[in-house]
Amino acid sequence: MLNDAHIQSYLQEQGLSPDLIVQVTDFRQQYEVDPAVTERVAVPTMPFYGKETLEMAITAILQGENLLLSGGKATGKNVLCETLSWIFGRPAYDISFHVNTDSASLIGTDTFKDNEVQLRKGPIYQCAEFGGFGILDEINMAKNDALSVLHATLDHRRRIDVPGYSRITLHPATRFIGTMNQGYAGTRELNEALVSRFLVVDMPPLDVETLIFLLKKHFPDMKQTALEQFSGLFLDFQKKASNGEISTKPLDLRGMIAGIRTIRSGLPPVNAIRMGLINKSFDQFEKEILEDSANTRIPKTWTKNDVFEG
Ligand SMILES: Nc1ncnc2c1ncn2[C@@H]1O[C@H](COP(=O)(O)OP(=O)(O)OP(=O)(O)O)[C@@H](O)[C@H]1O
Ligand SMILES: [Mg+2]
Repeated sequence: MLNDAHIQSYLQEQGLSPDLIVQVTDFRQQYEVDPAVTERVAVPTMPFYGKETLEMAITAILQGENLLLSGGKATGKNVLCETLSWIFGRPAYDISFHVNTDSASLIGTDTFKDNEVQLRKGPIYQCAEFGGFGILDEINMAKNDALSVLHATLDHRRRIDVPGYSRITLHPATRFIGTMNQGYAGTRELNEALVSRFLVVDMPPLDVETLIFLLKKHFPDMKQTALEQFSGLFLDFQKKASNGEISTKPLDLRGMIAGIRTIRSGLPPVNAIRMGLINKSFDQFEKEILEDSANTRIPKTWTKNDVFEG
């Protein structure tokens, strides 16, 4: 019940219409979660921030569609997946893709148990049974032929064909949410047949308002100047990366947040930025550019007291 109230106030805070909030609540109440998998329903430490993106994702799911989240690094793709699992109250199944992903690892493999051959159910199969949200993480890392087994699962047929076993139909609450990061090393072009089975959401790059909001949520006692300088630094890096002056390696919000946390234990802010952002690059020339940029934002003399309220 407390959780329901939390979800309600989060959705209101994001500015979603009352009508949409009612539809989400109805969905949650319509489908119960099997007690065996309740711990799979996510409870995000910090839910996704961004009204428009959230609205697109929610309406697509309500209409029975699968979603493909496409965007740069740390634009909150996985945070959004967690948030959707939470607000719709569905168990989440993380399915990470890599070059060696094949259909058996997704759907299931034969194993020998109790003196007979049995199907060991893969994550897609389990997700289908329990009405889960299957998170197809970094889907464009997989080979397209591994993904072709999912065609019937992802379109109106909503079924899984397990070679040698009977086919199963997806639980009505099952949805699949793919994430992809264009241009990461090792990614492939997704083929059209696959993409046509998703509604695609372009994740917006972080802007100053979102950054300050997120930092404040993580660090409610952070001083205004520090909020502005850390956000500014991140955006400086973002601009340099989009101009091709640096790689996207140091563009790591997760790293910046983890770095700032070390300031609480007494690490000088300049070193926190090194650990969280600058050292993510292993290129000496690039590091120098980053150091110069950081020096204009985070003075070397800064201590914990310049960052947090006393
Ligand atoms: N819109 C947002 N709302 C909430 N948190 C966000 C948002 N955008 C970025 N973040 C923050 O960025 C960090 C990374 O988010 P997440 O892991 O979801 O990114 P991602 O898009 O999956 O990145 P990657 O491409 O590296 O996998 C999280 O710690 C989260 O706090
Ligand atoms: Mg991710």
